[in-house]
Amino acid sequence: MPDLCRLAKEQGFETFRHSYRAAIKEVRTKIEILSEDFAVRHDYNPIHHMERRLKSPESIEEKLIRYGKEVSIESARENIMDIAGIRVVCNFIDDVYAIADMLMEQNDIRLITKKDYIQNPKPNGYRSLHLVLSVPVFLLDGCENIPVEVQIRTVAMDFWASLEHQLRYKKEKDLPPQTNFELKACAEASANLDMRMQRLFDEIHKMD
Ligand code: GTP
Ligand code: MG
Repeated sequence: MPDLCRLAKEQGFETFRHSYRAAIKEVRTKIEILSEDFAVRHDYNPIHHMERRLKSPESIEEKLIRYGKEVSIESARENIMDIAGIRVVCNFIDDVYAIADMLMEQNDIRLITKKDYIQNPKPNGYRSLHLVLSVPVFLLDGCENIPVEVQIRTVAMDFWASLEHQLRYKKEKDLPPQTNFELKACAEASANLDMRMQRLFDEIHKMD
């Protein structure tokens, strides 16, 4: 067990952490404004709920060690893209892409990476759209661009991911193949449900 947590003892750690907390607030506000605007124009709210998390000093340090990187604030800034995290849970699949496009169109936001695990699910069945966005944050000593990982998914994808996480959590051994197979089948059943619900949404809205 490495001696956790050297990082938190470094000078400037609180300021470093605060910049990520501020970045979460910035992105969260942007998403809230977008979803309210959407609701005003279309009389419909695409977002079911949002969650946010700031990675703990221990997990930042653990990840740096796992990546074989130096344990320092500078190295965390360069190498860890999910210190600030926001999860946006949407009602329908099209809402996931609508929210992502609306965010990426904002000219103060820069897209660092995009992983579309909806088009290309992980082998275990995991689905979600992951963006790492860089957002400017204005602090006492000037403007800093901070990365924020935004995971956008439907309620069905979120339901599957949280149960899968619970089932796997703190299990020392891999799950048996039959269990993995069954989990993947559940992911596919829930993706099918998403598609059917999207089709229903489209049909109902065509009638307007
Ligand atoms: P990390 O080291 O976990 O951050 O991996 P990564 O940098 O390769 O990123 P990845 O695209 O795999 O996504 C990371 C995050 O997505 C995780 O921290 C989880 O929140 C979520 N995630 C990715 N894969 C799974 C999965 O199979 N099951 C569940 N429940 N969540 C997942
Ligand atoms: Mg992560």
